[in-house]
Amino acid sequence: MRHLLSINDLTVQQAREILTTAYELDRVSDGQIKKLPTLRGRTIVNLFFEDSTRTRISFESAAKRLSADVINFSAKGSSVSKGESLKDTAQTLQAMGADGVIIRHHASGAAQRLADSGWISASVINAGDGTHEHPTQALLDSYTIARNFERENYDLSGLTVGIVGDILHSRVARSNVLLLRKLGASVILIAPPTLIPVGAESWGATVSYSFDDAIGNLDVVMTLRIQHERMSNFFFPSLQEYSRGYGLDDARLSRMKGSAVIMHPGPMNRGVEISSSAADSHQSLVLRQVTNGVFVRMAVLYHLLGGPQSATQSEMGI
Ligand code: CP
Repeated sequence: MRHLLSINDLTVQQAREILTTAYELDRVSDGQIKKLPTLRGRTIVNLFFEDSTRTRISFESAAKRLSADVINFSAKGSSVSKGESLKDTAQTLQAMGADGVIIRHHASGAAQRLADSGWISASVINAGDGTHEHPTQALLDSYTIARNFERENYDLSGLTVGIVGDILHSRVARSNVLLLRKLGASVILIAPPTLIPVGAESWGATVSYSFDDAIGNLDVVMTLRIQHERMSNFFFPSLQEYSRGYGLDDARLSRMKGSAVIMHPGPMNRGVEISSSAADSHQSLVLRQVTNGVFVRMAVLYHLLGGPQSATQSEMGI
């Protein structure tokens, strides 16, 4: 595997190998070893054309914990504002010796374009491209679910995951459906009809327009924010009306299974898609997702840049 652009790039076996490596790194971190020499001498570029808190910081932390050098590039404040193209930006970073480029871009397909272009020789990791995919978010979400439900070998069969909210504009939803289905989970997409993409059932999920009908059957309630920045139209009458139908409020929280968990990729809009009591409840895995993101991204960097396909502790320098 040279690039990670889509969950479709991964076989089930490769996905499980990445998650297994993440678990090894998670265990090592528990033992207080914070930094490993695995990527010493390698340079990773965070190439972010869109805002990010979790993904950018998490990749930076992951790369530094593997002893790589990290260059952070943000389109804001760069020569992109003077009209510099993706090609020239990428080639400038390549000239600085990038071994890995982590790209977030508002255009679906930008990561694929960079990987296929021949402009750079570095490995490319998609950190979110338009409404298309966000594969490392899906990997960290499946890791978090498997760890919570103590699933061996990341087999999620028998679990039902409800993804609730703005599915239409969500790269997180698409990557999650693809990976959760690969790992055996059932997935229900829950949203008003206007926020479900045409053909969503072909991803392997079922569709429900009623959060109230679905909620009592879910093992995982994954809430998503409304992506106003990608909307050029009105998709629901008002935010209040949307929230009444599709928000995880206190009444719905009380109707969840006792064993069910709440997830959100962030950033959360409290009071819209999730209430504060749901976000902060003992069933919430939101901060656990953030912590796990670092281990999963370390594992992805290791598998792309660090050596052979199958990680062992000695190969990782543990
Ligand atoms: N989950 C996620 O992609 O968050 P950021 O936009 O903060 O990176």
